[in-house]
Amino acid sequence: MKDNRRRLPQNIALIGFMGCGKSSTGRRLASAFNYQYVDTDILIEEKTGMSVTDYFSFYGEEAFRALEHETIISLEGLNGVVIATGGGTPLNPDNVSSLRKHCTIIWLSASPEVTLRRVGDRNSRPLLRDSNDPLQTIIDMFQLREPIYCATADKRIDTSIFQQIDTIRQIKRWLKDAGWHQANH
Ligand code: S3P
Repeated sequence: MKDNRRRLPQNIALIGFMGCGKSSTGRRLASAFNYQYVDTDILIEEKTGMSVTDYFSFYGEEAFRALEHETIISLEGLNGVVIATGGGTPLNPDNVSSLRKHCTIIWLSASPEVTLRRVGDRNSRPLLRDSNDPLQTIIDMFQLREPIYCATADKRIDTSIFQQIDTIRQIKRWLKDAGWHQANH
């Protein structure tokens, strides 16, 4: 985890694996702070006019990652936002550098088992859809991604053990303790 003594930026970015609750937590957090909620997958869908799943199928992951990067960069300059990122966003170090310029980054983690339960409808998750053993696929992806999430985040909240309302409470408490200030916007 990064050094929390840096002055924490006013925007908040949520990172973490599919199904960790970035979108639902992000919406509630935004409303709690009177912030704007931004979901990078939704921005991509609006831009392309296609679902992320269809975009993956037609153009492939590399094209998706390029769009994801453009989208992340386009958020620089915003003030008073909670950003829900895609599960793969931190894999690109340039995305991380961009987010770190203006966001306090919170990693919502969950165990592989909880993740599998939460992503129940795998059809909307192109990277899991075709797996014969989704739990093993999740475990393999975790091995690759967890160190990256860990190195990227200012704070980890394990959502496996909390109801969403408690996750929000945990985030708010940590932000307060870390001296975070809400944006005047
Ligand atoms: C991805 C996660 C998805 C979406 C895309 C790739 C990933 O977002 O960006 O399917 O690489 O983990 P969610 O984490 O919101 O499901």
